[in-house]
Amino acid sequence: MQRTRFPAEGSARLERSSRYQEIQPEQLIRWATVPKGAVVLDVGCGSGFFTRAAAVIAGETGRVIGLDVNWEMLRQAARLTRERQVLWVQSEDHSFPLATNSVDAVVLGFVLHEVQEPRPFLSEVRRVLRDGGKLLVVEWAKREEDRGPAVQERISEKELRRLLAEQGFATGSVRAVGQSYYAAIAEKIAIRCCGFVSPAPRMQR
Ligand SMILES: C[S@@+](CC[C@H](N)C(=O)[O-])C[C@H]1O[C@@H](n2cnc3c(N)ncnc32)[C@H](O)[C@@H]1O
Repeated sequence: MQRTRFPAEGSARLERSSRYQEIQPEQLIRWATVPKGAVVLDVGCGSGFFTRAAAVIAGETGRVIGLDVNWEMLRQAARLTRERQVLWVQSEDHSFPLATNSVDAVVLGFVLHEVQEPRPFLSEVRRVLRDGGKLLVVEWAKREEDRGPAVQERISEKELRRLLAEQGFATGSVRAVGQSYYAAIAEKIAIRCCGFVSPAPRMQR
């Protein structure tokens, strides 16, 4: 399925005050227990809706990176942002120009349903997140609506849990957000595959 990417020309829609009231991005980032002084990465930051909220929570001693594939989105985000602890960075689909284990928390706000290949994308999220780091995913609930992406593009909670588990994340709390959305908190677990080693086979004599 070809997924639709949100265009920079539509960024005013992302900045509607009713959207801030409905989603309350600061509250969601607080819910994900992002502490003061944290390094937070907002992937698919768009016009900076969650990036600025993360900057408020992380405070002046923190660092927030707003990452997007779309340069025009980043330009608009930078224009709307006063917080000095925010850095804007352009990325490629499954490749972030950031060091391994370099961030304490990642926000994926309404981006996962736009990603063509979620597995390599989440694997890259995992690479840059430190062990035990928090991942906050906010998405459209999987149902027909007269707004937002088509139902077949939306990711169900069940599908999200499965994708995250495959990529080495343990999903914790999931909650409804407003009328149309849900949010999930996951944690990067140190070992991607769990298993056990059988006792060594006995030598046949
Ligand atoms: C619907 S907008 C959401 C923006 C913002 N997170 C918000 O909630 O207001 C999705 C954003 O994700 C970006 N995007 C899509 N695929 C991406 C990818 N693979 N890596 C980084 N950004 C991506 C788009 O360019 C767009 O700015």
